[in-house]
Amino acid sequence: MDYLKIQNVASLEGTINISGAKNASLPLIAMSILAKNSVHIKNLPHVVDIRTLLKLLSNLGATCEFFQDRVVVDTSNLSKTKATYDIVKTMRASILVLGPILSRFGHCEVSLPGGCAIGQRPIDLHLKALEQMGAKIDIKAGYIEATTPNGLHGCDIIFDKVTVTGTANIVMAAALAKGVTTITNAAREPEVVQLCEVLHASGVTIKGIGTAILEIHGTDGELLTIEEFCVIPDRIEAGTYLCAGAITRSELTLKNVEPKHLGAVLSKLEEMGSRFTITDDTITIHPSKNIKPVKIVTQEYPAFPTDMQAQFMALATQAEGVSIIEERLFENRFMHVSELQRMGADITLNGNTATVNGKSDLYGTDVMATDLRASSALVLAALVADKETNIHRIYHLDRGYDSLEKKLHLVGAKIQRLKE
Ligand code: EPZ
Repeated sequence: MDYLKIQNVASLEGTINISGAKNASLPLIAMSILAKNSVHIKNLPHVVDIRTLLKLLSNLGATCEFFQDRVVVDTSNLSKTKATYDIVKTMRASILVLGPILSRFGHCEVSLPGGCAIGQRPIDLHLKALEQMGAKIDIKAGYIEATTPNGLHGCDIIFDKVTVTGTANIVMAAALAKGVTTITNAAREPEVVQLCEVLHASGVTIKGIGTAILEIHGTDGELLTIEEFCVIPDRIEAGTYLCAGAITRSELTLKNVEPKHLGAVLSKLEEMGSRFTITDDTITIHPSKNIKPVKIVTQEYPAFPTDMQAQFMALATQAEGVSIIEERLFENRFMHVSELQRMGADITLNGNTATVNGKSDLYGTDVMATDLRASSALVLAALVADKETNIHRIYHLDRGYDSLEKKLHLVGAKIQRLKE
């Protein structure tokens, strides 16, 4: 297994190119199941989760061809409809194939994804909505067995909670369903918006895109012709590198980024003292020498994203004063706390609220990554920790960050990927 060796740096300097969004890419790849043509997807990030989902589609009979600037996915010969445990256990977002496969073929088996480090992460809302659309759902031996005896039909769905992949799954199921589906309390994340925009451009009339109420007019089984599209920039990758600039007091420029998707993140960084120069597709951070403490509550988009919580906790350890971070979406998304504490951070937990007493002088040591975003928080802490930090189990990091060590090395970080 690989690990990252990171040494303290005085500062970083230069420009970081932001990759395509992992969490937009996953539903967009699953969406190719709804197409009659080969789907050309540009700007997919080179991360493990994308390769995993493409492998899953290949196992079902799709073909995936890789070119320098795109991946071409052809599902016209897709013949199998069972997503097996061996793949689903490595990536819970495999559940995103359920809606499209069921809508296209009328039957689908998907291994239950199981929990993950950050929480139980049930999929009850996905299944309840599909049943309302006419699916028969059984859970047998760890698998979801779904059939639609009379095809999926549109209906009015109200999500008890905002669910990102739940919204994506139902939008894709509704795309081929008979009639109109409304989703109330839909997720408004940019990644869901892009999925809706691409489907709408492919002939599925969708009203309310970007709002909490979506109206999807299904094609009644007619497969789609999906034109080539480019995945939106990864706002969480971008936010992570902005935190790298803030924590090392370095002026960094991010390019190929969508500033409109980072409102809450930029606002919190400004509260902590940073200023920004922003153009259509770049952000330059002008960090403050003294980082101010902050109060953060994670909520659904456009509020502060849970996927940035761990990174801001690392940053808050360098703030002069007490920061409060409340995690409202997942019940166990503080796995990074114990590792940050081992580096010298002064953090106390009370249920889903962390109190970070800054400023702590962090010292380098061996730490262990536990989940994707926790891993990036440890990288940020390591950049300012005294001496040297070794971050182990970075397969977590590789799931969602494209070439992180290369991108940081290019702006002056002392970071190496080594073998255990
Ligand atoms: C998506 O996960 C993202 N993953 C996550 O990013 C992100 O943290 C999360 O949305 C919240 O923004 C992808 O897009 C692939 P949810 P998802 O369904 O869709 C509860 C990362 O770091 N819930 O919006 O699985 C659930 O337990 C990953 O890139 C139900 O109760 O999250 C949670 O408390 C981590 N029943 C809340 O809703 C359901 O059926 C939000 O979950 C579904 C969800």
